[in-house]
Amino acid sequence: MSNVFIVGGSGKVARHLARQLSTRGHTARSLHRDARQADELKALGAVPVSGDLLQLDIAGLAQLMTGSDVVVFSAGAGGKGGAQMTNAIDGDGLELAVAAARTAGIRRFILVSAFPEAGRGKVVSDTFENYMAVKKRADVHLAETDLDWVILRPGTLLDTPGTGNVRAGLAIPYGGVPREDVAATLLEIIENPEVNRIIIELTEGDTPVAQVVQRLAHS
Ligand SMILES: NC(=O)c1ccc[n+]([C@@H]2O[C@H](COP(=O)([O-])OP(=O)(O)OC[C@H]3O[C@@H](n4cnc5c(N)ncnc54)[C@H](OP(=O)(O)O)[C@@H]3O)[C@@H](O)[C@H]2O)c1
Repeated sequence: MSNVFIVGGSGKVARHLARQLSTRGHTARSLHRDARQADELKALGAVPVSGDLLQLDIAGLAQLMTGSDVVVFSAGAGGKGGAQMTNAIDGDGLELAVAAARTAGIRRFILVSAFPEAGRGKVVSDTFENYMAVKKRADVHLAETDLDWVILRPGTLLDTPGTGNVRAGLAIPYGGVPREDVAATLLEIIENPEVNRIIIELTEGDTPVAQVVQRLAHS
């Protein structure tokens, strides 16, 4: 069973992941910054860990992570606070979490990133363009480490119920994907450490999540 530290633990994908981890007997330790979220996270079966990415330094975050087997980074400013906050959370926050994982001796690191084609064919705002640039910078940073990393690039996140079926691969057409299925994919990746040092694009589809991840383990 794995002990999984989730950065951005109060987020929507992260809450699905915490519940699914707990159902399969793993421990989710969910970093959150609002004390009111602790009981909600406990109700999902997670262990709430209080901390704010904007306040923590490498040593402080490493201390919170210590004892975990895997870090999942699913934090994001979500467009709030403009480019500055996106840079601070999606960019610098990821670099902080990577450094903290290394300090804590945790080798496995899974990043929830973004699908590169998200803005293709649309007139996008400067904020969105910056968001995509920061997500790419985060991917580059993680991929250049010697950690056992996986970068998952979901398409547009949907709140519709998960289907248990997805499309995933090294390069697939752009689309949407329920957050619940993103979490299910993360869970399968966590349970299959042979899926390693790979960038995976993810949308809705018609192949069972477990089958898709097994295929990626041998790609
Ligand atoms: N929206 C899309 O279509 C889309 C597509 C592809 C990828 N993504 C990415 O997928 C990831 C997960 O998405 P989601 O919908 O689950 O996001 P979400 O619900 O907005 O969750 C993001 C989490 O990051 C946390 N966070 C923000 N600032 C923080 C800080 N200073 N310290 C600690 N935590 C902080 C938030 O905490 P609070 O709850 O306290 O605000 C929130 O829980 C994000 O990185 C997002 O960029 C999104």
